This record gives sequence, C-alpha cells and structure tokens, in this order.
Amino acid sequence: METQLATSLTDALAQICGPAYVLTDDETRAAYGHDETEDLLFLPAVVVKPADAREISAILKLANQLLVPVTARGAGTGLAGSALPVRGGILLSTERLNQILHIDAQNHQATVEPGIVVEAFQMAVQAQGLFYPVDPASKGSCTLGGNIAQSSGGPRAVKYGTTRDNILNLEVVLPNGEIIWTGANVLKYSTGYNLTQLMIGSEGTLGIVTKVVTKLRPFPTQNLVLLVPFEDAVEACDAVSKIFMAGLAPSCLEFMERDAIDWAIDYIGSGMVVPPQIQAHLLVELDGTDMDRLYQEAEQLYAVLEAQGYRTGEVLLGESAQQKEELWMLRRKAPYAVRHNSVYKEEDTVVPRAALPQLIQGVKQIGARYGFKSVCYGHAGDGNLHINIIKAGLPDEVWHETLPTAIREIFTLTVGLGGTLSGEHGIGYVQRPYMDIALTETHLALMRGIKQVFDPNGILNPDKIF
Ligand code: LAC
Ligand code: ZN
Repeated sequence: METQLATSLTDALAQICGPAYVLTDDETRAAYGHDETEDLLFLPAVVVKPADAREISAILKLANQLLVPVTARGAGTGLAGSALPVRGGILLSTERLNQILHIDAQNHQATVEPGIVVEAFQMAVQAQGLFYPVDPASKGSCTLGGNIAQSSGGPRAVKYGTTRDNILNLEVVLPNGEIIWTGANVLKYSTGYNLTQLMIGSEGTLGIVTKVVTKLRPFPTQNLVLLVPFEDAVEACDAVSKIFMAGLAPSCLEFMERDAIDWAIDYIGSGMVVPPQIQAHLLVELDGTDMDRLYQEAEQLYAVLEAQGYRTGEVLLGESAQQKEELWMLRRKAPYAVRHNSVYKEEDTVVPRAALPQLIQGVKQIGARYGFKSVCYGHAGDGNLHINIIKAGLPDEVWHETLPTAIREIFTLTVGLGGTLSGEHGIGYVQRPYMDIALTETHLALMRGIKQVFDPNGILNPDKIF
C-alpha cells in the first residue's frame, strides 16, 4: 500500500478506535498474519481491534471508501486460511468483543459477543445447568465468531449438530457499514430467505458478526467414554454405521488410525502402550442423565461389535473424570501431535458415514501411488475424516507440484462417494482451487452473485472460498 494511503488509513482508524487499538508494528502484523493453516503468512498493513459494532461499521464504511480489503479474525485457529489477510489491508480482530451479554435460561438461549472463547462460554452456561455443545479441538482458544465463520463442528456434532445447528440469530455489520439482525430469537424460522444460515460458514466474506444468539440445552449430567481398539482400520470405519443402525446415538464417535494415536501418546507423554496388532481406535462417548441407561447402551455397543465379528482388542472404559479426560486427550491432541511432527496439509473430507470404509481405503491407495504418508483421524460418526498428508522427507517440488494432483484425486473420490470437500474447516484460501470438484459452475455463479449483492466492491476477505 502506498505510504500516503497507509498513513491516512491508520490515522482514520485511530480516530474510530483510538490509537491504542490500531497497530502497525512488524511483530503485531506478523502475529496476525497467520492462522493455523500450514506455514502460510501474509502481512496486513494494519491490525485494528474495535470495541463494538459501531466502530466496525465505521471501519467498513472507511474501507469501502478507500477500497481497502478487510479480513476479520477471531483467534486465528482456522485450518483453511480463512483469516489470512492475503491482500494485506486491514486485519480486523474481534478479540475485544468478548462479553456474554445475557443468558436467557427461560428460553434456553444466550446473547454473546463473537470474540468470546468457546470454552469460556460453555463454562459460563454450564454454571447454570445449561449446555452449548459445539466443541472443536481448539475450544480452549477458538472464538464463537470464528466458529460461525467456518460453521465449525467438533466431536459432539454427531449428536448436537455443528455451529450451524446451534445459532438462532446474528447481528451483522454489512460491508457498507449497515447493521442488521439476520433473523429472530426463535426456534423456528420460515420468514423468507434464512440469512442467519447464509452468514454461518460464509468465512467473513459477507459481513462481520457482532452479536450472536445461541441455542442452549439442558446439560447432560452423565457420560461414559469407551476406547475401542481394532486390528483393521477398515473394520473400525465399517463399525460406525453399524452402531447407528443398532439404534444407538452416541454423543461422540471418533476414529483414529494407529499413527494418530501413537503420535498423540508421544506428544502428551502418556504411558499408554498400544498392542502391535491394533491398527485403529474408535473413541465413543455416550451421554445422558441416567448412568444405568448408559451402561446398557455400552453393552448394546459391545453386542454390535461382537455380532459383526470385528477383530477388536480390550476396550478401555473411562468412568472417572480423570480417565475420561485421559482418553479424550489422545484424540484432542492428535492435530497438535501431527503439527509437531511435520509440515502437513490437512483435508477435511466428509462422506455419508457408511462410505467411510471406501474413503479410507481409497486415500491409502492414492497415498501409495503418489508416495505420501497420511495420518487420518476424525469425526467418524459424521463421516468426517481429517486426512493429514505428511510432508516429512518429501522433496519440495513433490510437495508443491505433485501434491495438488493427489489432493484432486482424494476430493474426486470423496465427491464420488456422495461427500464434499469440507465438513467443518471451511474452504478459505487453501481449498479454493478444488471447488470445481464439488460444485458446478451454476452453483459457483450463484455464490458469486450473493457475494456481489452483499459486497459489490469486494472489500471483505477477498480471494476466499471461490
Ligand atoms: C479436530 C480438528 C482438527 O477434529 O478439526 O481435531
Ligand atoms: Zn475436526
């Protein structure tokens, strides 16, 4: 950006937010120039930390006038590069909008600001016996606004849905600075196009969320966690749909292949030893309010596995809070363990759950053909498989030049199985080159048209999604 423009921009931003919240030093620009997507870094010209919707409105009006790109950012835990300021400009952090405004126990809903950390929100409602179920792996640091931008999921989505299923209404600042509510604080909505749902998963390309009304539920007071080892990863995937067909509705049903659990064990320094013949695990959580009922469901689960004749090992049962936490750490730390081991590229494929065995087999075949290793884990109950392609010793030219072709094959397989590119991480910057595999030109044109209506000057988060 030209120096003159940059100076008048920062001066104007300082007028809006106060100079303490407009930052141009190198360290801050670098810290806000990346998220958790691979090793990508794009420096914004300026980082701005507004206090409320009114300031955000003024910033967007200014950006529209000067035609400067604006990229909104929650906590920067995204895995698709949606918060990367790829064209520089203004990086708008929502971190100061972090208050719980109202917990409405009578209506089982809460009104909060988007910068609140998801786990902090969960704890606050739990103190009132209420439950906000969406719990991505990064729940201790990710923000609700970031979850809305990506329609984030996490393990409990299999029973309680993703962010999409738990939001009732949003206050949004549009690119022209106007402030709207997208819907109403109601459990049903059949009043024209559903702008709330349009905003969720729009990755900061249509507007900036400044207030959120979430749905809440009664807190399920009891749960059981089971770690089931399998000698064959395909059998573990096959078991997933069989568990549901038996009438069980687990609150989590996670898959981890051998390397994922081994790497997590090393990463967290757990002393657990996995027998050599075990190739995969399913981590199952059953929740509710009646412990006897949960033990009956666990028995039912064992019966399904036995009836199918799967080669399983000894099931580890988590009953105490500590045991459950230890089992969950193996799964929750898997992404951190992968990141710790190597540069990697993460795919977020999702298929109808009965197609999971074909997906994992196909991924391994593609990997064998192209010579890459993958470490897979994910939300098997949702048919959502995180495929981590490991760079390790692969030469740079293979990584940059051959890998996109292999990824195309993985996505083509996924779509061929009735699935799609991303279940919960979004498209952002890194999956855009593959959108043609999942969506027709007609479909993409509709999306571009929507973007044009909301943001005719294309200032909000350019070069994302399509
Ligand atoms: C997980 C994140 C990577 O499931 O989505 O761990
Ligand atoms: Zn996930």
